[in-house]
Amino acid sequence: MSEQYPSAQDLTLEEQASLTSGQDAWHLQGIPEKGIPGYMITDGPHGLRKALASTTATNLNDSVPATCFPPAAGMSSTWNPQLIHQVGVAMGEECIQEQVAVILGPGVNIKRNPLGGRSFEYWSEDPYLAGHEAVGIVSGVQSQGIGTSLKHFAANNQETDRLRISARISQRALREIYFPAFEHIVKTAQPWTIMCSYNQINDVHSAQNRWLLTDVLRGEWGFKGIVMSDWGADHDRVASLNAGLNLEMPPSGTDDQIVYAAQDGRIDRKQLAAMAQGMIDLVNQTRQAMSQEGYRFGVNAHHQLARQAAAESVVLLKNDNNILPLAPTANVAIIGEFARTPRYQGGGSSHITPTRMTSLLDALQERGAHAQFAPGFTLEDEPQDAALTQEAVATAQHADVVVMCIGLPEYAESEGFDRTTLDIPAKQLAVLEAVAKVNSNIVVILSNGSVVSMEPWQQHAKAVLEAWLLGQAGGAALADLLYGDANPSGKLAQTIINDINDDPSMLNWPGEEGHVDYGEGVFVGYRYYDTFKRQVAYPFGYGLSYSTFAIDQVQVVADAHQPNTVQVSARVTNTSNRAGAEVVQVYVAPEQSAVARPVHELKGFAKVYLEAGASTTVTIELDSRAFAYWSERFNDWHVEEGTYTVEVGTSSRDIAACQTVALEGDHKTLPLTEWSTYDEWKQDILGAQAMQAADEAAERGEIIAIPDNDMTALFLHAMPINSMTTLLGPEGGKITQFLLDWYAAHTK
Ligand code: BGC
Repeated sequence: MSEQYPSAQDLTLEEQASLTSGQDAWHLQGIPEKGIPGYMITDGPHGLRKALASTTATNLNDSVPATCFPPAAGMSSTWNPQLIHQVGVAMGEECIQEQVAVILGPGVNIKRNPLGGRSFEYWSEDPYLAGHEAVGIVSGVQSQGIGTSLKHFAANNQETDRLRISARISQRALREIYFPAFEHIVKTAQPWTIMCSYNQINDVHSAQNRWLLTDVLRGEWGFKGIVMSDWGADHDRVASLNAGLNLEMPPSGTDDQIVYAAQDGRIDRKQLAAMAQGMIDLVNQTRQAMSQEGYRFGVNAHHQLARQAAAESVVLLKNDNNILPLAPTANVAIIGEFARTPRYQGGGSSHITPTRMTSLLDALQERGAHAQFAPGFTLEDEPQDAALTQEAVATAQHADVVVMCIGLPEYAESEGFDRTTLDIPAKQLAVLEAVAKVNSNIVVILSNGSVVSMEPWQQHAKAVLEAWLLGQAGGAALADLLYGDANPSGKLAQTIINDINDDPSMLNWPGEEGHVDYGEGVFVGYRYYDTFKRQVAYPFGYGLSYSTFAIDQVQVVADAHQPNTVQVSARVTNTSNRAGAEVVQVYVAPEQSAVARPVHELKGFAKVYLEAGASTTVTIELDSRAFAYWSERFNDWHVEEGTYTVEVGTSSRDIAACQTVALEGDHKTLPLTEWSTYDEWKQDILGAQAMQAADEAAERGEIIAIPDNDMTALFLHAMPINSMTTLLGPEGGKITQFLLDWYAAHTK
């Protein structure tokens, strides 16, 4: 790796220690005498936030202009990994121009509860979708020789008390819900860095969690890069370094403590050298990109890409009487301050200074639309001004169509705090209601970083475009969609529920006395709503188009050579006279299981673009992981033998066709003991043979026979075999001993 720089072994203890903390809030610490530069690293994640003023400043909004792509709330609705990869490439190019070696993102924490303040920065309630989308950012950025920092590892699912809270999570929920997005990206794209989370997991701070940072991340998943702390997440540098944290950010000025700890044996010197070597390797990986001088990215091209990404991010929730797309000649009233002052990104560390900004109003003016604007309300948390309502009603009264832009203002959602309600501010809804009294042709455009409640206002809208936060080109994209120059193709990456109390995590949200119990286990989002048949406003995966599609010819074929592997194919046809895109979604539903499993889970998807009337066949492979659950008994993934239904559809609740497939399972068995039940002995291959031998011994009169009647069988099946005495007296104990001896003799 280090052709140019010395290896950690050639550095003094002091030099090694110095590499394990930053030089300031946004720079690595270099060793100029040894030729190791101190490159810049900065946020992320939906564009570059390179601090302008002083390098230690935390004034978040003061950064050099960069393209503001849609935050993950929007981009996750594209279900388009190739497009997301292109956005990653563009961000990498901007880093080269700005000489930033690592961009801090993407953030792939699960949206456990829609009130999470940072939901706008995260991808989905579903780990498969989150991993398979966000990987595009990592592969795209790194294809340009720039590093990414996959964050926040792990279980940073709320803002409340985020620096201290202990997320108490079962192993199974960690492995099935909170880890897989990280795991997939590590295994397929090797992010050069990972940022640990602020919170504790099961009472251990992530920065000091050796199991997390070393055993799982490096040992099991094969991570090769460095782990840095979230800003201020490292509270004990010695413990963190020993756990596998390479870099403390921002620096606390305590490198000497690391030296002392290495000298007195509290830090293993090999571990310090390994952590320092990781930092040298990172500098090496980015060296080529960092030595490109005078590089300039294409500002226009990136704005156009942001526009395309924004258009694909929008989800058409409703379109009664095909009110959309609008006729070019329609007289349109545009109501709502968001049309003039778009909310296009979230607040906090991801806040970007855009290279340019197109509001919906700008875009409508540019295209010469027949549109009249009234702001309707302000975006401040202040009482409604009656004059604004009157003006909005007057503007709407004689229009053919009203486009009403409502949503969450900046004060309502940000990094740093969680929301307390799903509701849109009441004053906006009051304006909508007043407008609905004079005009029934209303199209609502929503601006929000996470879901909002749709009742009681939804009935006033003939169409609803869920526009999330769309980045700097959102206005142009929305105009394209309103007039049909773009066709909606976004799908929900997050279920829209009717009431926050329908969410399974509400019993334990946002925790108390320093901890939060993830009591819902693996039943997060649609895994809960669909399993327990809860009504939702719009299901996971849902989204309309101006086109219509049909799915047929679904085939599910087990791979003859690979156990527990299945090929799924389906034909998709655009049954309309307009080109458009559909997302084919594949869910796996186990017929029965030894553990409580969600009724179905997303395990594959493919977005297809089809001309009017055109068809194509998509093929999706499901590997054994698609059928597995995390077994706490095996401490491993486990595919049970049995029947699985493979569902192909366009949302978690619109399944076009399904087929079953029988799988042999992975044949994993647990060693049998006196605490294994009679049934577990019977179901185990060797155990069954032991039972057979016991029968034969009984026939020979060596031990008594297990009574063969229904009542005994009923009792026995769930009893550990050491209970034979309880059931059959001392002679029963001999059966137990026979089984254990036989088993021991055959498992040497
Ligand atoms: C955030 C990170 C961010 C870092 C640097 C932290 O507060 O949690 O996501 O990358 O600050 O700005």
